[in-house]
Amino acid sequence: MKKLLYVALAWLLLAACAKEKKPVDPADFHIIPKPASLTPGTEVLDWDNKKIAIIARTADEKNVGNLLAEFLKTKNLNATVTEFSDDADKIAFYTAEDPALGNEGYTLVVDEKGVSLTAAAGAGLFYGIQTLLQLIPENGKTVPYVTITDQPRFAYRGLHLDVSRHMFPPDFIKKYIDLLAHHKFNRFHWHLTEDQGWRIEIKKYPKLQEIAAYRKETVIGHARDADPKNPKDFDGKRYGGYYTQEEVKDIIKYAADRYVTIIPEIEMPGHALAALSAYPELGCTGGPYQAATTFGVFDDVFCAGKEETFTFLEGVLDEVITLFPSKYIHIGGDECPKDKWEVCPHCKKRMKAENRKNTHELQSYFIQRIEKYINSKDRQIIGWDEILEGGLAPNATVMSWRGEEGGIAAARQNHDVIMTPTGWCYFDYYQDTTSENEPLAIGGYLPVSKVYSYEPIPAVLTADEAKHILGVQANLWTEYIPTPEHVEYMMYPRACAMAEVAWTAKENRNYEDFLTRLDTHFKHLDAWDVHYAKHLQHAADSTVSKK
Ligand code: ACM
Ligand code: ZN
Repeated sequence: MKKLLYVALAWLLLAACAKEKKPVDPADFHIIPKPASLTPGTEVLDWDNKKIAIIARTADEKNVGNLLAEFLKTKNLNATVTEFSDDADKIAFYTAEDPALGNEGYTLVVDEKGVSLTAAAGAGLFYGIQTLLQLIPENGKTVPYVTITDQPRFAYRGLHLDVSRHMFPPDFIKKYIDLLAHHKFNRFHWHLTEDQGWRIEIKKYPKLQEIAAYRKETVIGHARDADPKNPKDFDGKRYGGYYTQEEVKDIIKYAADRYVTIIPEIEMPGHALAALSAYPELGCTGGPYQAATTFGVFDDVFCAGKEETFTFLEGVLDEVITLFPSKYIHIGGDECPKDKWEVCPHCKKRMKAENRKNTHELQSYFIQRIEKYINSKDRQIIGWDEILEGGLAPNATVMSWRGEEGGIAAARQNHDVIMTPTGWCYFDYYQDTTSENEPLAIGGYLPVSKVYSYEPIPAVLTADEAKHILGVQANLWTEYIPTPEHVEYMMYPRACAMAEVAWTAKENRNYEDFLTRLDTHFKHLDAWDVHYAKHLQHAADSTVSKK
């Protein structure tokens, strides 16, 4: 009898072990941004010592398959991308029309048959793979059974990077793109020109490379605390560089392989001092000018009266449009002081000839003329919300940054809008007020919790007006951000929160739940060597501003 009991106990123990052989952990399902629907299974697919075949037939399937194989290699898993296999564990891609999922949605099923991923287009396959990467635990050997159906809330999901105040090497730009694409952003807004440096090679204008790409030195510490006349407040080191057209093409291709469109920004009519340092005849006074060595808004801007200004900008845009396939070209339009225009004979003559009553209307003339040129090349302009002043260009999309008002006004005028208001989307702001060790920032205070709370559709818009809100973007201005590590520190984890604002349905968002998933997500960021703000994840909210 006793023996029988022992046998029964041993059997029960064995049965329990067998059940536990394939445990699933709730953390296995911690996905950022949170998918639309996720049904967890109770077992795992075990890849240890297995052959893995990634079944891919179309060009998009092969592209995404190769990216996945590269990732699996980092987990010491060997996967072959192949059109057919019957003797391996399968990760199978299916491209199939599913109007409900659109081009960016996907269905991912992991079960005893392997992994199957269905999407209507390459972008959907790519996003399905990004989700799969987060399902694979650190050891890389298992994937939990799961069924996920997912699609984005907004069509435009952007991250911006200013490479003019500080420049970052092409390999880092690729890492930045990798990370944003992993978080299911699909637009990279590349801010390429500024007062402090011109960063894109334009073959027609070699002095942009020789002169405009460099500044004499850089202010030390905060610009507002510096004395422009005191050499001690400057570092005395020439700073600059630019991306060659070959590098730009390589980066555009890299982004396209990850279903990211790069939107280039060429600033006009303001933030133009670097360009003017190379071509002083394009300013109202004729110079001389030099690329800014400090930060802020500068009075010298492109002259709106001289024809040479438009010849130059059209020449620049011709090369930009040839390089970048993006439908949108960003033409800046922000922070353009009008002081020089007010007294410039060329600008006054232009205002008279074009029947513009004031310099705001002159800026509107400037932007409308550039829009006409860009439209003639079958592209569209995006401008910062100042382009509303003096009258919007007829087909312009507006980036609302000085709050939401510009976006609301533009949507009411039936113009498309991208929301990027400073209060929720400016990642150059401080993210913590409790740490003594926070690096110098421009000001402001934007903790991850506030980013997460952002609702891009203003409540005051009607349903029809709200259709003009294409999406949302976070911006990183780099006056006080000199290194790639510092860029990552400012971006992550705030970009994780913004990813969820952009991708996840409003009713599926919950900050506490996000923080739990973020804890797991940090392990992925560690594996990818991301220098995120580690100490901030649960920082207490504060409304203290450092501004
Ligand atoms: C901006 O932040 N000046 C668009
Ligand atoms: Zn002028």
